[in-house]
Amino acid sequence: MIEKDIKNERMMGPDSYIIIYELLKEKVTDEKIRILDLGCGKGLTSIYLAEKYKNAEIFAVDLWVEAKENYIFFKENNLDNRIIPLNCSAEKMPFAENYFDMIVSIDSYHYFGLEKDFFKYNIKPLLKENGEIYIAVPGLKDDYEKVPEDLEHHISQDDFKFFKSINHWENLIKKDLKEIKVQEMKCFDEAWQSWLSCDNPYAVEDIELLKADNEKYLNLISIKGKI
Ligand SMILES: C[S@@+](CC[C@H](N)C(=O)[O-])C[C@H]1O[C@@H](n2cnc3c(N)ncnc32)[C@H](O)[C@@H]1O
Repeated sequence: MIEKDIKNERMMGPDSYIIIYELLKEKVTDEKIRILDLGCGKGLTSIYLAEKYKNAEIFAVDLWVEAKENYIFFKENNLDNRIIPLNCSAEKMPFAENYFDMIVSIDSYHYFGLEKDFFKYNIKPLLKENGEIYIAVPGLKDDYEKVPEDLEHHISQDDFKFFKSINHWENLIKKDLKEIKVQEMKCFDEAWQSWLSCDNPYAVEDIELLKADNEKYLNLISIKGKI
């Protein structure tokens, strides 16, 4: 378990530990599986995965955070023999086809996965038969063409384009999966409060966004599926 001050230092948005706990609550296995933590940021979720799935091997991929930084963190937690850090883009990952049993992505898939057929060409081929995806993204209760007036002063149109509804996500990838469940997550308040109460300057900016939202537009969405 990561200590609170280290977690505060490494969070990059709504608390990924709280989100991944809800996302994977029902997924229990002690099998020897291979997991991709896609857009792992500063590695908090990779540690969570290694601790929950004791026999799993985890590849921790991120674009903005260097592999060497995450390697130090994994080593400090004595998990560098189970978690392999990589610095690359989801658009060009260096993995063989049919490689992973599970692909997990917390608060990052919306940055690269909104293009039509991104899942089909970049994600699906990496999964073994019956492979599973567990994705959590910040989203919207409904679809909006442009930023709603209430949020105008707190989020740019460019950032708002990453926020989509449950229907949008479901329609985007359901044709490439044999099972899919897209839902609003319950941990929205808890994950956001944990992020807003740490002293990261980005979190401070988000306080006003959440106030303006007033539970009207924003949510967290989970996408679970099997190919
Ligand atoms: C808000 S952070 C979340 C990080 C982490 N999953 C967490 O919840 O703490 C979004 C992450 O998405 C990653 N990301 C954005 N575009 C990416 C891409 N094309 N390929 C891989 N990762 C990407 C960034 O590097 C960043 O670490």
